[in-house]
Amino acid sequence: MGLYRMDTLMRQARSKGIALGAFECWESLNIQNIAKASQFTGVPVIFQASPAEYNTMGGADALANMVKFYVNKYGIDAALHLDHGSTIENVEECVKSGFTSVMLDASTLVFAENAAISAEAAKIAHAADCSFEAELGHVTGGDSGSNADSALTVPAEVVEFVKITGVDCLAVSIGTVHGDYRGEPKLHLDLLAEIASLVDIPLVLHGGSGTPIDQLHAAIKLGIAKINICTDIHKAFLRGIEEARATLTPSVPGNFYIPPSKALFDKTVEMIKLFSEVR
Ligand code: 13P
Repeated sequence: MGLYRMDTLMRQARSKGIALGAFECWESLNIQNIAKASQFTGVPVIFQASPAEYNTMGGADALANMVKFYVNKYGIDAALHLDHGSTIENVEECVKSGFTSVMLDASTLVFAENAAISAEAAKIAHAADCSFEAELGHVTGGDSGSNADSALTVPAEVVEFVKITGVDCLAVSIGTVHGDYRGEPKLHLDLLAEIASLVDIPLVLHGGSGTPIDQLHAAIKLGIAKINICTDIHKAFLRGIEEARATLTPSVPGNFYIPPSKALFDKTVEMIKLFSEVR
């Protein structure tokens, strides 16, 4: 029970033929329900947040304290990960706050620049016994509103990137997007198979929400050991809020937050099971 390096948990997951859910954290209700869902299913989880998210909670240290509290309260195995850090300062503040893994996302830069800053961030992470994730190719979407300008990972770059950076797990771009898909999701599984044949580090899939489960299961079988989920659990939370607004008075917050809390728990359990019951 406790917080572990993320790559350690990912390797264990891969040896069992499953992937771990990496769930975005933005406030205490969702952090608590991620922990409860992990306890309920008996499967480790990854708590993760980008700087915009942990700053809404009062900083990386505030998030880290909250996560550590719930990990101990519910007796689970977990990792705490910086998602989409954009600066070396982000990496440093998370390492200092007790995260067990960090990502520096320089995936919009050209290869040499991405590799150089990733190598610098990896050194900082490793000095604190944290694992390090980088992204090669670019998974787009989110607030940019455009899902069309992803850059797929180029297999010919993978081995050199891993060698230069010392990255412990690699986020690949194989057709997912952050947020809602425009059009039919279609993962490039041949590309994933090629990448997986080149390196033996576990691979990460960003933009898990809305991706058909048969495609996710195929990706897990090919080497994806972590699936990032934000939109699907946030939408579940918002549906819970709508239900509360329709039926409950805002004057009793303790009751008002029961529907969103239940919605978060149910959705997180559903996703953990989807990723750990691979057919
Ligand atoms: P979704 O919002 O599509 O689930 O993506 C989340 C993500 O990849 C966070 O890094």
